[in-house]
Amino acid sequence: PPQGEELLAEIQRLKEERNAVILAHYYQKPEIQDLADFVGDSLDLSRKAAATDAEVIAFCGVRFMAETAKILSPEKIVILPDMDAGCSLEDSCPPDQFKAFRDAHPDHIALTYINCSAEVKALSDIIVTSSSAQVILDQIPKDQKIIFGPDRHLGGYLSRKSGRDMLLWPGICIVHQAFSETELLKLKAEHPDAPVAAHPECPPHIIDHADHVGSTSSILHFAKTNPSEVIIIATEPHIIHQMEKAAPEKTFIGAPGGDGNCNCNMCPYMALNTLEKLYVALRDLEPRIEMSEELMDAARKPLERMLDMAG
Ligand code: 13P
Ligand code: SF4
Repeated sequence: PPQGEELLAEIQRLKEERNAVILAHYYQKPEIQDLADFVGDSLDLSRKAAATDAEVIAFCGVRFMAETAKILSPEKIVILPDMDAGCSLEDSCPPDQFKAFRDAHPDHIALTYINCSAEVKALSDIIVTSSSAQVILDQIPKDQKIIFGPDRHLGGYLSRKSGRDMLLWPGICIVHQAFSETELLKLKAEHPDAPVAAHPECPPHIIDHADHVGSTSSILHFAKTNPSEVIIIATEPHIIHQMEKAAPEKTFIGAPGGDGNCNCNMCPYMALNTLEKLYVALRDLEPRIEMSEELMDAARKPLERMLDMAG
């Protein structure tokens, strides 16, 4: 692939030639976020994918997000720069085991986090994202029993907040699981006035120290509107790029993972996408997301329920 400015120009040229739209998640590298037509959280990105009139969706995020785009816009070509961009939550929930879990609890509905395979979506009743989970849960009758998967931390957070018991699938996100409470407390001691904004995929020992809990777009909104000079961000730190663009006068500090010296708070799957791979994907229209019609039809139902209920 070409390099530098030429690479950027070639991506733009191919994008127009292909009639493509570039959608990117906030955890993508800054150079990808900057060239995308739209950057958002999982719900925003699903809505954009469902509404676009482009012929090609170049999805800079992870595979379950690109699959969602394809399921909601099956007539489009959906490309993902690196097909290995998976998600630890998806890996934690093999469809056959999820089906057995469902079958063992026939009186429960499955409220399922969007971070899962298309097969698991097809086995679910309603999909949620971190930004839509609460409003959707509030619409489910109080006496309805619920299975929530695959993220036990998001499920646990929703249960604590709503006072509703749910049967939780034991999945975790390796990135949010890596945040260290000890390191976070050290950081808070250094910046006593700094509020903490955390993603609900964080374990409770991180959430307990948070002033704001929400999806990536809600964390970004908090970072822009909170008047504090320093804000601690407990989610994947590539989102800080948008915060620094929007509020350059403020300081945003990513909460540390592990012993504070590792990169374990960065998503290794999101990091697989690069500008070079995006260029190749637009040039070749590969790697392409493909699924059977039958699977897409089954997975679309709970996704459309989410879009309806999220308002
Ligand atoms: P959001 O929907 O909040 O952007 O979350 C996506 C994700 O993968 C978080 O790890
Ligand atoms: Fe999956 Fe976690 Fe990466 Fe989000 S940050 S894509 S949940 S592994």
